[in-house]
Amino acid sequence: MTSELTVAEQAALTSGRDAWHTTPIESVGLPAITVTDGPHGVRLQSNPGDMLRGQPATCFPPAVASASTWDPDLLRRMGEALGDECRAMDVSVLLGPGINLKRSPLGGRNFEYFSEDPLLAGVLAAAWVNGVQSKNVGASLKHFAVNSQETDRLRVSADVDERTLREMYLSAFRRVVTQARPWTVMCAYNKVNGVYASQDHWLLTEVLRDEWGFDGTVFSDWGAVADRVAAVAAGLDLTMPGPDDVGDAALVEAVATGQLDPALLARAAGRVRALVNRAATRSRGGYDEAAHHALAREIAARAIVLLKNDPVPGDKRGLLPLPAGPDGPSVAVLGEFARTPRYQGGGSSQITPTRLDDALTEITAATEATVLFAPGYTLDDNEADDQDLLAEAIGVAQASDVALVFVGSMRETEGADRDGIDLPEAHRNLIAEVVKVNPRTVVVLSNGAVLATSPWDSAVPAVVEGWLLGQAGGSAVADVLFGRVNPSGRLAETIPHRIQDHPSYLDFPGEHGHVRYGEGLYVGYRGFDAREQEVAYPFGFGLSYTTFGYGEATATASPAGLEVRVPVTNTGERDGREVVQVYVGLPGSKVSRATRELKAFASVPVKAGETVDVAVTIDRDDLAYWDTRLDRWIVEGGAYHCAVGASSRDLRTTAVVEVAGDEIRLPLTGESTLGEWIADPRGAQALATAFGAVPGEGGEGGDGPMAAVFANPTMLMFLSATPLSRLTVFPGSPLTDEIVAKLVAAANG
Ligand code: BGC
Repeated sequence: MTSELTVAEQAALTSGRDAWHTTPIESVGLPAITVTDGPHGVRLQSNPGDMLRGQPATCFPPAVASASTWDPDLLRRMGEALGDECRAMDVSVLLGPGINLKRSPLGGRNFEYFSEDPLLAGVLAAAWVNGVQSKNVGASLKHFAVNSQETDRLRVSADVDERTLREMYLSAFRRVVTQARPWTVMCAYNKVNGVYASQDHWLLTEVLRDEWGFDGTVFSDWGAVADRVAAVAAGLDLTMPGPDDVGDAALVEAVATGQLDPALLARAAGRVRALVNRAATRSRGGYDEAAHHALAREIAARAIVLLKNDPVPGDKRGLLPLPAGPDGPSVAVLGEFARTPRYQGGGSSQITPTRLDDALTEITAATEATVLFAPGYTLDDNEADDQDLLAEAIGVAQASDVALVFVGSMRETEGADRDGIDLPEAHRNLIAEVVKVNPRTVVVLSNGAVLATSPWDSAVPAVVEGWLLGQAGGSAVADVLFGRVNPSGRLAETIPHRIQDHPSYLDFPGEHGHVRYGEGLYVGYRGFDAREQEVAYPFGFGLSYTTFGYGEATATASPAGLEVRVPVTNTGERDGREVVQVYVGLPGSKVSRATRELKAFASVPVKAGETVDVAVTIDRDDLAYWDTRLDRWIVEGGAYHCAVGASSRDLRTTAVVEVAGDEIRLPLTGESTLGEWIADPRGAQALATAFGAVPGEGGEGGDGPMAAVFANPTMLMFLSATPLSRLTVFPGSPLTDEIVAKLVAAANG
């Protein structure tokens, strides 16, 4: 039997004791628990004056990189390791994963988010949550919901239509909540269609709990709550950070005056209490720092995306991988990022790493040949110094067999959107000048979100997308450059030629407190594909040091969904890993749809020369669209095209499979058009009975008052878009309001 809490204790329990702890309740012996960021490391605050500085912990690759592995097994292992670090630091809830969609390449927190595709984000995040929670540490799925920009982030209203909301922006949350059951969900700062997420009953209670069955605790984002009473009424349980004596008192007052149902406060407090009790079962543990560093390196190497690897004139193979023996090429390492790595973004996810690998040291260790270094540019954009450094770098490039140019974005951080996707000018100059003197140039990028590669990439034979790779990124880059790891990373976000091409371009970041999600369902590759627009590198793209061939795909349907199978052969000479992607489309669909959508994928190791039969399944639920007329998910019947390949634009084989649709019937009303009445068998029957004539084809023959209309195809087409009740007003119309009412009763009865 649990002891009752007083109203004041309940109120106190629904806000934090401080920034990182829940409020202990002595009367019932309830301790405080620690919660902390998240998501790619454990940032346990070490200095009371500095909320953002944490104790040393493994800085795993941020989501921009881990998502590029397309491998849920790796994400699960990362989650397990994070869970172990939480246990070692007595942390009960790790504030992650962040799964908002990357709506625009300009999103300031894109580096913390997984993808522009909700299936990829959801599958990877679910694996991460399962990993963390397998250690009896809770995850906090964030930011719920539609938190895809930093501009005006604490107030802006994300204005998005319901179908887009359901199919795109809530979809990954639904997957993680239903499949991985996170202990907690963190609400977003922003408003959704005009209502603060922290006060949105529809979002926090009707969707999250009633529809998806969430039974955990809802946290606020830090500082997201404008009105404690409204938030508790909506379904928010814990307001962070604390203490919030004023808000606690407001809750007590609201209960006393009858403004707030006491059961709602008791419910919120009960959920915080249940979380604390759940956390109490966790045992302390330790972790192996070296093993976690090795895991961070493995994930980082798997995250690297080889964008380009052309042979230089005279060679048969691509420039990469580089031979590492004494006869290997001498190497110029150019660019300050090789020595001073950019390995994570700024803000609440910033981890103090246990150690930090840099590419220069790791490349020097990886090859027996000569390695020379020049910084090439300054980190503070100092133009005069940059000119001198450029000249030095050109000299070093000239003196070496191969030039590795490390460039990227200077900064991505929580709190600010990016102002563009171009490389800094000094970096572009470095690439342009180096490649003039050394055609064997490899560009290695460090960036937390998409960078334009056009037009400079046409001049260089090899481009390596190195994201922000966490503390072991330097060694991971060396692993890929020298072929110790065969790259298998794939883009989780499209790289456009120009920001102006992007589907979000005209509606980002909004103004005057609103951002209109004008591209609707056509987020990322869905938008590029629908408009058949050229991109620099498509969603799902990434090269390997080997090649893969695809056999013929087959697809079968069952009540559970689809199974798609395809043989994949490693046609090259190196063992490798292919990310097999299945994109599904329904040509001729009755609703607006993307040409194709990612519905399944598998990261599969394939040995040189071998063939692997790959099988993936697609839940029937994942074929559904949100029907706004019926307010529910509907699977439309028809011939679904399952295109299988190596990227969203490299589809090698397509299997077509017939799927039986859900039975749906919209009730017919006077507002339903004549065409809708005729298309509905019961509607057509009711019309036929009433008017003694069958509408549409073969309609002649009747002699009732509508017979002439029904038999005249032109007339029928003309009138088919007219609501039945509107047909009553035409002179001589046999329809009256009374007859329409009878027809409605007959058709629906
Ligand atoms: C961020 C959250 C984070 C929280 C606590 C907020 O500013 O939006 O992602 O978990 O701070 O640091």
